[in-house]
Amino acid sequence: THQWRGIIEEYRDRLPVTAVTPVVTLLEGGTPLVPAQLLSERTGCDVYLKVEGANPTGSFKDRGMTMAISKAKEAGAQAVICASTGNTSASAAAYAVRAGMVCAVLVPQGKIALGKMGQALVHGSRILQVDGNFDDCLDLARGLSEKYPVALVNSVNPARIEGQKTAAFEIVDALGDAPDIHVLPVGNAGNITAYWKGYQEYAADGISTRAPRMWGFQAAGSAPIVNGAPVRQPQTIATAIRIGNPASWKFAEAARDESGGLIEAVTDRQILSAYRLLASREGVFVEPASAASVAGLLKAAEEGKVDPGQRIVCTVTGNGLKDPDWAVAGAPQPITVPVDADAAAERLGLA
Ligand code: F0G
Repeated sequence: THQWRGIIEEYRDRLPVTAVTPVVTLLEGGTPLVPAQLLSERTGCDVYLKVEGANPTGSFKDRGMTMAISKAKEAGAQAVICASTGNTSASAAAYAVRAGMVCAVLVPQGKIALGKMGQALVHGSRILQVDGNFDDCLDLARGLSEKYPVALVNSVNPARIEGQKTAAFEIVDALGDAPDIHVLPVGNAGNITAYWKGYQEYAADGISTRAPRMWGFQAAGSAPIVNGAPVRQPQTIATAIRIGNPASWKFAEAARDESGGLIEAVTDRQILSAYRLLASREGVFVEPASAASVAGLLKAAEEGKVDPGQRIVCTVTGNGLKDPDWAVAGAPQPITVPVDADAAAERLGLA
């Protein structure tokens, strides 16, 4: 059979699992690496999109969650907990169902996209909306996991990073070597940490000849790493990365510095512009936070920081269907027509 087996079976020898680890999977990973026509044209480079919205619950979190839930199950946990801006909770909720575990999620009140809330609900997780931001939720989740019998599945759990590093493996496996530059949105900074680990492992074992420069982009109103200080009241329309004190801050800086990369900010306007461009020109519908990578690449290109001829991969982290409000907002209402071909043709400009 040629069915993709999920990241644990595909990369078993590179992950901390043994023959007795129960594999809890929805066959995540194996996501498309799509050549980006317009972005390649605009930058003079070969740009690819790693479309992580194609994962089972619609984001890259599934790569980490298959590992975190499998390891929690192996350790005998009956319940898991996470803080989330939405995607982690959606993923944890689904994988907990597969594992027969209880899932508790803490989300910042009023600041998670409706689709993600729907996922957590439909998978039967226990949701608490916290009167605070993501950073408060993570503090609370950590405290609960220390005091009560519930396993923490945020990216501070090393199993999460191990799972998420497989995206870097897939890219090298597909391209035959590492790209020159890898571009990512940065929130809690787990994913940039994971990609850097994956790229370094492949380079160390000679599977790639090098590791890429890591370029991370935060939303301007939630850019603690760029500012060099935590942001107490992080703001951005990209709710997935509305984070003021990233847990993997130091690891993100290490990825940046060791790779000769950068971590910069993009404005909400630049994020939404990239979001629309991806949908209207590349045919790839992502959620706003995901577009921060592409917004960052375009900003860097405009500033003359992108030498032509390079191979560049942008991770687009989550599916646009999770947060469709931004697709509908400001768009004209579809016109209503009678059941009449001539009238429809006229409205479509065909007649
Ligand atoms: N993009 C999306 C769609 C996300 O959901 C997240 C993080 C990121 C990017 C940033 O990744 O945190 O590893 O730097 N979402 C977390 C959550 C915080 O709770 O779903 P990161």
